[in-house]
Amino acid sequence: MKEIKNLNKNKNINNNPNNKKNFYMETYGCQMNVADSELVVSIMNKSGYNLIEDFNNADLIFINTCSIRENAEKKVRNRLQNFKALKRDNPGLLIGILGCMAERLKEKLLEQEKLVDIIAGPDSYRSLPELVKEAGDGEYGVNVLLSREETYADISPVRSDKNGVSAFVSITRGCDNMCAFCVVPFTRGRERSRNPETIINEVKELVNNGYKEVTLLGQNVDKYNWTESKVNFAKLLELTAQVSPELRVRFSTSYPSEFSNQVIDIMAKYDNICNYIHLPVQSGSNNMLEKMKRNYTRDWYLNRIKAIRERIPNCSISTDIISGYCSETEQDHKDTLSLMEEVGFDYAYMFKYSERPNTFAQRNYPDDVPEEIKSRRLQEIIKLQNENSLKSNTADLGKTFEVLIEGVSKKSDQEYYGRNSQNKVIVFPKKETEIGQYVYVKVHKNTSATLIGELVQV
Ligand code: 5AD
Ligand code: SF4
Repeated sequence: MKEIKNLNKNKNINNNPNNKKNFYMETYGCQMNVADSELVVSIMNKSGYNLIEDFNNADLIFINTCSIRENAEKKVRNRLQNFKALKRDNPGLLIGILGCMAERLKEKLLEQEKLVDIIAGPDSYRSLPELVKEAGDGEYGVNVLLSREETYADISPVRSDKNGVSAFVSITRGCDNMCAFCVVPFTRGRERSRNPETIINEVKELVNNGYKEVTLLGQNVDKYNWTESKVNFAKLLELTAQVSPELRVRFSTSYPSEFSNQVIDIMAKYDNICNYIHLPVQSGSNNMLEKMKRNYTRDWYLNRIKAIRERIPNCSISTDIISGYCSETEQDHKDTLSLMEEVGFDYAYMFKYSERPNTFAQRNYPDDVPEEIKSRRLQEIIKLQNENSLKSNTADLGKTFEVLIEGVSKKSDQEYYGRNSQNKVIVFPKKETEIGQYVYVKVHKNTSATLIGELVQV
């Protein structure tokens, strides 16, 4: 009902060409935010706003924000100050903050800091046209209500990937895991799954429009569950893979205690499901895992890795690691390093623990690892991961991979880059190939970050 009301309103705006306005948007944080911004563009287009690339010509600026670590919020605050300065020359300019920071800080951003005109949490994007109108009329536009149902299932995102090759498709929203350190359950609300029919229709439409790769997104994809038609994540993955053998299927993020053998079997069964799993471990120490409320042990995690490697021998695995979590000892840290050595991750995202307000950790444990120690441990983790990434890439020398071409290399316009099934970036001379094409590339050189190769016929 609510949406029909909005659309009617929007139609009125659209009917008047003088009302065509420009908006500019920046997106911070995770892939989920990128996917959400694509929904926002769709919603705003329908209400008569054009997305533009130069904020100097904008009537409206949106920043889609992240709260996961303090630094992420600092970055956005600085950006907001810059945008606020634009109001001196353009007093009619409206500034809106969307996403996790909007949800976490709510009216504080208006009352204490007077930084923005519009505040919209992740579940209230349908109301953006109304909020913008309210702000234009001189009131603040605020909606930070979280929902148990909203999945934006019926909205077709306006894709931000300019190449038309890969797209994000969100399958769940929110998170019920309540890891002790994490602010996401508070900012994105309760976990909910999206109707599988709408997911598969979106994937089919992407394929019809020439897309070659989809990434199914959720904070914890393993919890995907549509009870009405008994579709769990493994089944959804299978249905997606069956849309077209030409379509590559990826997914993120998996959760160790729920990552099932059924999912591994489906991955092994379909060639077009990529051999790549992002499985955040966070720490190699059982003490830390317990304090993080992660619901698995080091051994459980290692067993999951073993199960993956047994069924998909050439699967690459990446992870997330937090250093310096509450009361982390030198031994806990060493346990993380030894787990990294044991698994040999192909890639890792590594962070210093950042205390987040109102989380279980903030309420119950002191953030007591000194900053220098957090930094030193993080450096040790990064150093070891660089060695592991280099080893993993060096092991690919001489191998030939199927690569989906995604774009022109940043270093040379004579080269393309793409990824192999294992999610590794490969750079090679263009020759007669084009973006969106599958090609075979033989690797002859590598760094810890990239593979370099030549096109081959197979
Ligand atoms: N401090 C540092 N890293 C965090 N992450 C989540 N919350 C925090 C925090 N408070 C990391 C975790 C998670 C990734 C998305 O961000 O590693 O997997
Ligand atoms: Fe945060 Fe844990 Fe949910 Fe990931 S699974 S979003 S770390 S609460």
